[in-house]
Amino acid sequence: MYKFAPETAQDHWEVEALYDTCFAPGREALSSYRLRDGVPPVTGLCRVARDAGGVLAGAIRYWPVRVGPVDVDPVDALLLGPVAVHPTRQGEGLGRDLIEDSLALAAPLGWTRVLLVGDAPYYGRFGFTRLDTVVMPPPTNPERVLGRALVPGAWDGVVGDVLRWAD
Ligand SMILES: CC(C)(COP(=O)(O)OP(=O)(O)OC[C@H]1O[C@@H](n2cnc3c(N)ncnc32)[C@H](O)[C@@H]1OP(=O)(O)O)[C@@H](O)C(=O)NCCC(=O)NCCS
Repeated sequence: MYKFAPETAQDHWEVEALYDTCFAPGREALSSYRLRDGVPPVTGLCRVARDAGGVLAGAIRYWPVRVGPVDVDPVDALLLGPVAVHPTRQGEGLGRDLIEDSLALAAPLGWTRVLLVGDAPYYGRFGFTRLDTVVMPPPTNPERVLGRALVPGAWDGVVGDVLRWAD
């Protein structure tokens, strides 16, 4: 049994260590991290899962981004990730629960669309599909740029670059 809770400042370095365990070295060199530099994550959507003994088993974070031509009123979106489950806890549905539980919180907070860079065979389970007209900073494989509308049609007609929230 896992207990889900919002990530707090006390959790920060433990979550970083989990991500270091779960991702290849140099994860912070990925272009998606440039969208996170200097931007606070979305409070209320970053979540941790701990086992009955309090050991961290999984974590998910979200950042705000904007999408579209910078001079033509870009739209707001959530950038999902990183999400990771400790290797000894994978395959138990914890990744699914972290993703679904946090996404269920997003719409009530006013978010209408979410995107990520990831494996379509995994995220397709959660309704994510390729965003053909949305461009992540290079180098990003366009096939891995996936989105899900949190309200119907939220990605319709959205075209352009993914931008840092603060830019
Ligand atoms: C991806 C991750 C978060 C999934 O967590 P999890 O708790 O194991 O996921 P779930 O238990 O909900 O789902 C497991 C299922 O997803 C599948 N799956 C996991 N990663 C997958 C991937 N990259 N592509 C396709 N399927 C994948 C598993 O094969 C399993 O399939 P099954 O249900 O048919 O047996 C976890 O594997 C992880 O931390 N990986 C390393 C970090 C990472 O890659 N994060 C995602 C960045 S894109």
